[in-house]
Amino acid sequence: MARKSPIETAVFPVAGRGTRFLPATKASPKEMLPVVDKPLIQYAVEEALAAGARRLVFITGASKRAIEDHFDSDRELENMLQAQGKSELLKQLRGVLPSYATCIYIRQPAPLGLGHAVLCAAPAVGDQPFFVHLADDLIAADEPVLAQMAQVYATRRASVIGCETVPRRDTDKYGIVATHGKGDVLRIESIVEKPKPALAPSNLAVVGRYLLSPTIFNHLSRIGRGAGGEIQLTDGIARLLVEEAVYAYRFRGERYDCGNKLGYLEATVAFALAHPELGSAFRAHLQQIVKPKRAKRTSR
Ligand code: G1P
Repeated sequence: MARKSPIETAVFPVAGRGTRFLPATKASPKEMLPVVDKPLIQYAVEEALAAGARRLVFITGASKRAIEDHFDSDRELENMLQAQGKSELLKQLRGVLPSYATCIYIRQPAPLGLGHAVLCAAPAVGDQPFFVHLADDLIAADEPVLAQMAQVYATRRASVIGCETVPRRDTDKYGIVATHGKGDVLRIESIVEKPKPALAPSNLAVVGRYLLSPTIFNHLSRIGRGAGGEIQLTDGIARLLVEEAVYAYRFRGERYDCGNKLGYLEATVAFALAHPELGSAFRAHLQQIVKPKRAKRTSR
């Protein structure tokens, strides 16, 4: 059984089309891209379960059926593995989703932005605090980041947002927060979506991990379109922090941005090196292929 946690619900906005990975994502969701042997969305769900969540709310869109299939049981495949005596594989397959977890799928009717996607989850979340997890941001950590954030919540009883420092030139790729104080947990004073480096209030960036008070829904239902013409979660948080404390949390872990090809490749290498069965053979292979080339002699 998972640890009892006050945060029972995790929301996974998975409606985006993943255009940066076309044609790989033409017919298959970007969240189903595998990192070694598991799709990104499975890492996401495992992290939420490890933090005590048991209600998993997926905000889906076109071409996302594979996610539902992934978390559903597949009797035909299970019977086949059983008949072939592949019990280890069968165990792994059945362990994808524990029996105490419930999946809820809500279709986002139009791609109106992350804030709108989160608002679509309101009927399933109710009036309790909840996690939002963006599967693109894969984080390798000894303690899953959402579990770290649940601990912050246990003492602060307020919204917590996963953050890390980024190079200043990259502020226009993230929500950026201004905070005061020192340490790993910082009260947020303001937050702005994707500011240009010259206008950014800091270089402390929001990554795809949020623990939010349900009050956010009141704000998300009222705000208009923001950066990029979309209803932004960041703008909802900007309203929330006027009436409630919201904390930035510098998590412990290594983040890989699997929303772009280089970050995805870096994640694949890091997770393959750490893989219990493949790690040492893969390391040996990498050492072999990246051997520094001998300097060529020039004849001049
Ligand atoms: C979203 C959020 C942004 C956040 C980022 C983290 O942006 O809008 O505030 O910093 O996720 O990955 P997206 O990457 O979807 O453009």
